[in-house]
Amino acid sequence: MTNRSCRLALIGAAALALPAIALAAGATGTVWAGAYTDAQATRGQAAYATSCAACHGDALNGGDSAPPLAGGAFLANWNNQSAGDLFTRIKTTMPFDAPGSLGSATVADIEAFILSRNGYPAGAAELTHDAGVLGQTRILAEKPAS
Ligand code: HEC
Repeated sequence: MTNRSCRLALIGAAALALPAIALAAGATGTVWAGAYTDAQATRGQAAYATSCAACHGDALNGGDSAPPLAGGAFLANWNNQSAGDLFTRIKTTMPFDAPGSLGSATVADIEAFILSRNGYPAGAAELTHDAGVLGQTRILAEKPAS
């Protein structure tokens, strides 16, 4: 192979590889990649029923004074924020009548349940309560192009 055709072949290979990289990047680092497990969401559902449902509704549709935790208005508030931002919001300000009363594992379980009810897929690993990891996971209302 001459030097020139070798270079052309390399450019061709790079051009083929680029769309594959873009594809894989789509959902990575977002809640669309599967940020919690089904078992965790089930645990979270029970904790939600105990600590949150009285105000936010069994179906997360909100109540007299508490806003919904699922659907368009909720996702508009949280779009482009991180799973860590939502975690901190719940951990430090909720339940409204007893803020700070829930342990980190329980808050993570409840957040997993909220993610599941907003249509985000379950994955292989639980939603952590490690702030560093949570901060790397973005909430996006719209599924990224893949
Ligand atoms: C006593 C009633 C009450 C309980 C119980 C309660 N909340 Fe709330 N929650 C509210 C009210 C009122 C607001 C709006 C005021 C505010 O933002 O602080 C709110 C706001 C929120 C928000 C912000 C919503 C948004 O769109 O930004 C989240 C998230 C939330 N609550 C989660 C929870 C979770 C999870 C629990 C259970 C651990 C819980 N809340 C328990 C009353 C309650």
